[in-house]
Amino acid sequence: MVLVAGSANLDFVVRAAHIPAPGETVMGHSVQSFAGGKGANQAVASARAGGVRTEMVLALGRDSHADFLKTSLRSAGVGLHLHESAKQTTGTAFICVADNAENAITVAPGANNDLQVQHLPSLAGFSHLLMQLETPLPTVTACAAAAKAAGLTVVLNAAPAYPLAPALLALVDILIVNEGELRSLAPGAGSVAQAMQALPCAAVVVTLGAQGSAARFGEQWFFQPGFAIQALDTTGAGDTFCGMLVAQLSQGMPPAQALQRANAAAALACTAMGAQASIPTQAAVAAFLQSLGPEDLAAVTRLRDACHLPPHE
Ligand code: RIB
Repeated sequence: MVLVAGSANLDFVVRAAHIPAPGETVMGHSVQSFAGGKGANQAVASARAGGVRTEMVLALGRDSHADFLKTSLRSAGVGLHLHESAKQTTGTAFICVADNAENAITVAPGANNDLQVQHLPSLAGFSHLLMQLETPLPTVTACAAAAKAAGLTVVLNAAPAYPLAPALLALVDILIVNEGELRSLAPGAGSVAQAMQALPCAAVVVTLGAQGSAARFGEQWFFQPGFAIQALDTTGAGDTFCGMLVAQLSQGMPPAQALQRANAAAALACTAMGAQASIPTQAAVAAFLQSLGPEDLAAVTRLRDACHLPPHE
């Protein structure tokens, strides 16, 4: 079983020609609201991956936004361990999605800031704890310590980027980051591969946007090129990757295959608007992969070279 501890937000999404620069006003085309939040998105991705029970510990306010988020999670099949904040409103995110599918996100965490380690359920029966950094760092650290002590695999998606104490990194078995987050955790490391090697976690997975992803599991390296899709909205693609990856690993799938499915799921998530609304099911991911030709080994080599693995690897 997978346990996700993290954030849930109501996303207000404005679509516009481009993301405003500081001080600029941009007239949008449309506004919509979607269920979001990195934690909740990852829980939905894990549940839609199928084959493993997914539960989530989260904090929401006592408001109508909370009802909307609970419905989205429950209808995806996520079991909830809910803390209702008496003082804070449900987390919200304000997202501008540009016509080229890129986004800019501002989060008002609200009730997410009330999540604490004592809200964790019994950890018996769970194999993996998946967390992000939209809830307080002391909570993330204490939850990681509790999970580690109970024998779970601790997975941290270190997003958004924060400086992390060595004590927290030491508790993390699998670290998932994008390139910017990787650079902030391993400043001064030359290549992507060197930065991945500089981190103390047993496994480090780096998402590289449309390029794909790279991973180090112990001494083994994996490169998964991205899939060509027509991107509409990249919001939640990284979360889809994390949830799908952890769901597959928790079922014993080898890293190379899990990485391929996670990449495919993330690519599909970019083809529709919204975070949770765009997360594909396992069946959709399998159909997408079947529709493709054999793996392009030249693309794997290109990605491997782009990461600049040191010669001794
Ligand atoms: O990663 C995407 C998510 O970031 C959005 O759903 C938004 O809520 C923010 O948490």
